[in-house]
Amino acid sequence: MKTFLFVIGILILLISIGTFIISKENGQKMTFSPYVDEKGGISLPKDFRDNWTHLGAWASPDNTAKGFFHDVFTQPGIVEGFKKNNNRFPDGAVLVKEVRSVKSASMTTGPNVLSADKEVLWFVMIKNDKNRFPNNPNWGDGWGWALFNAKDPSKNVSTDFKKDCIPCHVPARQTDWVYIQGYPSLHE
Ligand code: HEC
Repeated sequence: MKTFLFVIGILILLISIGTFIISKENGQKMTFSPYVDEKGGISLPKDFRDNWTHLGAWASPDNTAKGFFHDVFTQPGIVEGFKKNNNRFPDGAVLVKEVRSVKSASMTTGPNVLSADKEVLWFVMIKNDKNRFPNNPNWGDGWGWALFNAKDPSKNVSTDFKKDCIPCHVPARQTDWVYIQGYPSLHE
């Protein structure tokens, strides 16, 4: 028994050293999310349109100039995680809302169909169950909050979620600040 525990101990030590070396080689400390740096800086996920789950879409016809189509994505497996977690998003879940401008076109389906044209903006929320980054104004109320313009997708232009995001998300407060009524796969 003692030898067994000793061997297990050595194995755990070796795995820890290995993980430490790998994270050093990657040039930055590992955090709970690949889209978050150690200071809480948020970056826009790149591959969401190819590989993520499309949760749902909104259209805002009165807001054509700013963007008409809103498509919302989350990572693979999050829908299942949401249901297992009593209808709450699990730690590390990312929501990306892509806003696209429109172009009218005459299509076989009808004369006034509008097609999604260029990306305008991306809104990003990252679930944070452990109150990480308490002094960073882009984090709070259980999420990290960010906004990226198509002009420069590398820069989060939101500086304070309490000012930039929360006032508009108050109607969704009971559902963890997310407008889940728009996402059919989350409904039971
Ligand atoms: C003008 C009001 C308004 C502001 C400001 C706003 N939101 Fe939203 N947001 C909404 C509404 C309404 C929806 C759902 C319907 C829609 O997209 O039209 C939504 C949806 C989202 C979604 C998709 C998930 C969900 O909650 O349904 C994300 C992600 C999001 N917002 C993030 C943000 C972030 C981050 C900020 C701040 C940088 C922000 N929002 C600021 C009103 C707003």
